[in-house]
Amino acid sequence: MSQPRTVAVIVGSLRKDSVTRKVARAIEALAPPHLKFDEIPIGDLPLYNQDSESDPPPADVAFRDRVRAADAVLFATPEYNRSVPGGLKNALDVGSRPYGHSVWNGKPAAVVSVSPGAIGGFGANHHLRQSLVFLNMPVLQQPEAYVGNAFSLFDENGELVNEATAEFLRAFAQTFADWIEQTAPAAAR
Ligand code: FNR
Repeated sequence: MSQPRTVAVIVGSLRKDSVTRKVARAIEALAPPHLKFDEIPIGDLPLYNQDSESDPPPADVAFRDRVRAADAVLFATPEYNRSVPGGLKNALDVGSRPYGHSVWNGKPAAVVSVSPGAIGGFGANHHLRQSLVFLNMPVLQQPEAYVGNAFSLFDENGELVNEATAEFLRAFAQTFADWIEQTAPAAAR
């Protein structure tokens, strides 16, 4: 049996009723049980300011500690103006500093983008991947996950009711679990 792995979940939407969070929760529900998901909120992080590096805000320190403790990261993002929401980019920046101490470094990751539109947040997905290359995160390549028409996939209780999407997300979660085992830093194996 696989050993337990903690997956930090970073949701790019701050909205209470976020459909992106519903997709992230669906992935959690469909994932193999040895993956333990921990959504780490990003909404209270101050805008990153390099002047604060010697005396960082407590919210930044807490965020970094929580990401550092995870074995892997699932990024679930909506698309804002064909890119990632500013809050998500801010969280990436906060976690990446101080220089040489990035909490993202080497952690296996996966990206799912979500949109009520047909394109499924393709632009956000790939802008995010650009940053993750620089942050040295081994990111799951296939299956790519662009969840479009997302408002139609859930019922009024927030339950995923689209069978094809459920099957896709189950396969995505299983492949991510395998990816974590393949790419986790040796010290975590
Ligand atoms: C959007 N939305 C949007 N959708 C999309 O598919 N591509 C886009 O470029 C944008 N741009 C955009 C900009 C801004 C500022 C907002 C507020 C919204 C719509 C977006 O997909 C929609 O609000 C989703 O509901 C956001 O996801 P959550 O918050 O439900 O997870």
